[in-house]
Order: sequence, then structure tokens, then C-alpha cells
Amino acid sequence: MRDLRLQRPHHLIHHPSFLSSSLLHVPGILRYRGYPIERLAEAATFPEVAHLVIYGRLPTGGELTAWEDALSRHSALPAPVLAAVDALPHDAHPMGTVLTALCALSTCHPEQNPALAGEGVYADTAVQDKQIARLVGKMPAIAALAYHRASGRRAAPPNQRLGYAENFLYMLDSGPGANPAYRPHPALARALDIMFTLHAEHEMNCSTAAARHLASSGVDVYTAVAGAVGALYGPLHGGANEAVLRMLARIGSVQAIPAFLAGVKAKKEKLFGFGHRVYKNFDPRAAIIRKVAEEVFAIQGSDPLIAVAVALADAAREDAYFKDRSLYPNVDFYSGLVYRSLGFPPAFFTVLFAVPRVVGYLAHWREQLVDPDTRIVRPQQVYEGDWLRPEVEALGERAPPPALPAAASKKPALAPVFGEVPPSNAYRRRVAGTNWA
Ligand code: ACO
Repeated sequence: MRDLRLQRPHHLIHHPSFLSSSLLHVPGILRYRGYPIERLAEAATFPEVAHLVIYGRLPTGGELTAWEDALSRHSALPAPVLAAVDALPHDAHPMGTVLTALCALSTCHPEQNPALAGEGVYADTAVQDKQIARLVGKMPAIAALAYHRASGRRAAPPNQRLGYAENFLYMLDSGPGANPAYRPHPALARALDIMFTLHAEHEMNCSTAAARHLASSGVDVYTAVAGAVGALYGPLHGGANEAVLRMLARIGSVQAIPAFLAGVKAKKEKLFGFGHRVYKNFDPRAAIIRKVAEEVFAIQGSDPLIAVAVALADAAREDAYFKDRSLYPNVDFYSGLVYRSLGFPPAFFTVLFAVPRVVGYLAHWREQLVDPDTRIVRPQQVYEGDWLRPEVEALGERAPPPALPAAASKKPALAPVFGEVPPSNAYRRRVAGTNWA
């Protein structure tokens, strides 16, 4: 594994075995294409980082101008995407809205769809670049659409004179008439830009693996990205920062922390924002976010849940349960507090993760396109079922299901029956309405 990584130091992964190579994961170290994340967060903007992650190098001045122009030119959403989102229920989760928008976007660009335009359509780098500009360029507008779908107002159209994070805040806040003179607070725009940088890429995590899995079948890139965003939605992955905020609100006070931690240790609770499959000492992004949080709080005002968060982190880090299992705060522990202070509701946090992470998905997609080892992904399954069963009995002769065996392992048994599905309340009301007289 190590040899492969060293042979291909600037590549993102090696397929088919899904090895990491451009991101060097030694506990406590995160680098994008060889640059420490701390330096990038300090000295580069998110569009520069996006270029680095996707194209392998930081852009020169001229390249950056061309890249930012392309992202701006492709930032508006086509009418069918707006209409698809309008058709959703009024209380749709913002991540469901983003998924809908991405799927609708896929249908707006048939000329790049391998199912329609032919398998080799992405061999043309101009076709690749255009889809990259569209997806990275449109993600802030999709996120703004999802935000205002929930707020009941309209997002302003993108303002092409503004930077990436700045334009996102502009679409949210410039008012219903879209005041072109509105400028978001530069320090808040910069804080969001840094948050985007920290979330741009993180090697072979659940959603990136989903992007590569889908793309390996040759599906169009919008659908592959939508699949990845779907994986990100889950509370064990991108939804963790939303879960952290709900957990902190539920704990409510510093005094309630010991009882909560006792519940975690008894496996009745999960301490969201702690633990990571890769970092077993420290998540370097958590330290940067703590600093960003202080800057945001200085402008937006402090948050009563911060005291709970800090005391919870301190208590957990001193506790043998967490020490023995190498569980430390991850990127999501503090990011929710930053987003809350910026005024975003918890249900929107994962969207703020999805916007920059599309960059990572696209970098992997692009790399996979030229990898000669790329084959359709087909994980090996270990079959544990019956080998061969006797004749299929006729309907009247079938035995009822046996009682479930007592659990011999941690794995719960699946009941071999279709459970009772109660009729809906609306059905009960209709039946009551039909029968009352
Ligand atoms: N709270 C309580 N116990 C935990 C936690 C946690 N957050 N995380 C792990 N553990 C415990 C497990 O119960 C297990 O205990 P055991 O040995 O007694 O059975 C032990 O620590 C090892 O945990 P694993 O499940 O093997 O760790 P894994 O690497 O599979 O899981 C994960 C990583 C999913 C991130 C896990 O730590 C977790 O659920 N964390 C909370 C959710 C979260 O914050 N996710 C965000 C991750 S970062 C991201 O996606 C951007």
C-alpha cells in the first residue's frame, strides 16, 4: 500500500483497491496534494484550493482569474431545476432539496450524459471541464435555493462580481429584490471560505467512495455526485454536525454532562462529533475551526451552547472510555457551532458540507476517468444464506415462519415476515367520513 502511494504521490486514490495517495494520513496530519491543510486555510482561498484539489496544482494569477470567471459564468440555475425544487413539500429537508436539484441538473445537460451521448463523451477534457465548472459553480446557488425553500423566500440570483463564499452569502441575504449593492461582512465571508477549504476533500470516505462507485458504472457525473451527496446526508457522516447541535441542545447545561456521558458509556447514547475512522489522535480541522469560531463569535455574538460544547469536549477527553478508544473531537464537533453562529439552522449544516465536498468528488471522478485500472465496482459478497432449499411449496402448504433464534451474536436477526403496516391517519379519517351517517 505504502509503495503504491509513494509511486503515485499526487493522485487521489488507486483503483480498484481504493487506496489513498494524494492525502497523506498520518495521525494528526491532513494535506491536499502535499500542502498542509493549516497553510491552505491560512493563505489560500477556497477557489484556489478547489483548483488544487481537482487539477493538482495551485493556479497562477491568470489561471485563477479564468477559473473564477468560469465558476461565476456557470453559477445560475436552469428553470427546470427551480421548478423541480418548487414541486417539493414545503418542509422538505434542505439536503433532499439539494439532491433533487442535482438530479434535475443531470437532465438539463443531455449532451454530456454517457447514456445518451456515448460512453466516451468524458474523454474530451473540454467536456470534463465544463461539467466541473457547472457543478462547482452552481453548488452555492443550489444551497441558497435549498435555504430559501425552507425560509419561504426567494434566493437572489448569483452576483458575478463577488467571490465564491461572498456570492453565496449575497444570494442568501441581499433581500427579496436582490440589492446588487449588498456586500456580506468580509470576515464572515472569509470564515465561510475557510470552512469550505476544510471540507473540500477527505480521501476515501463514505460519500467519496459512493461517487466513485456510481461513476464506475459510467453514469453521468451529476448523478454520481447526487449519489455521493445522498451518502453525505447520513448522521454518521455529513449529518454529524447537525446531530452535534441537536445533542448539545438536548444536554442543555454543563451540569447535565456527567449524566449524558454515563449514557454514552452505557451505549445508550452516541457522542456525535467524536471519533473518526482515520484520525485516532486528533483531527487537524477541529483546531482550525475552533479559531474560526472565535472570529465568527466576535462578530455575531457568543452562543450559550459553546460552554456546553467546551465542557463536554474537556470531560470526554479526560474520560478513560474515550481515551481507551482514541476518540477525539472531529471536524463536526465545532463546525455546527460556527454555522449556528452564522445564522444557519441545524438542518442546513450538511448542505454547507456538501457545497465544498463536491470539489473532492469531482477530483476523484476526473482521476478515475483516466485511470487504466478503472473497472465497474463490484464488491465481493460473502454469502451466508441457505445453499439450496427443497421444492417450492404451493401456497396452501407453506409453513409459517419459525420463531427467531435467540441472538447468538451482536448481529440482529431479520424477521422473515412482512410486518404490520397500519393504515394512515388520513385513511382512517376518510373511512370515518364515509361511515358516520
Ligand atoms: N460515541 C461513543 N462511542 C463511540 C463513538 C462516539 N462518537 N465513536 C466510536 N465509539 C466507540 C464504539 O462504540 C466502539 O466501542 P466498543 O469498542 O466498546 O464497541 C469503539 O468506540 C470503536 O468505534 P468504531 O465504531 O469501531 O469506530 P469507527 O471507526 O467504525 O466509526 C465513526 C467512526 C462512525 C465516525 C464513529 O466514531 C461515530 O459514530 N462518531 C460519531 C458520528 C460522527 O461524529 N461522525 C462524523 C465523522 S467525521 C465526518 O464524517 C466528516
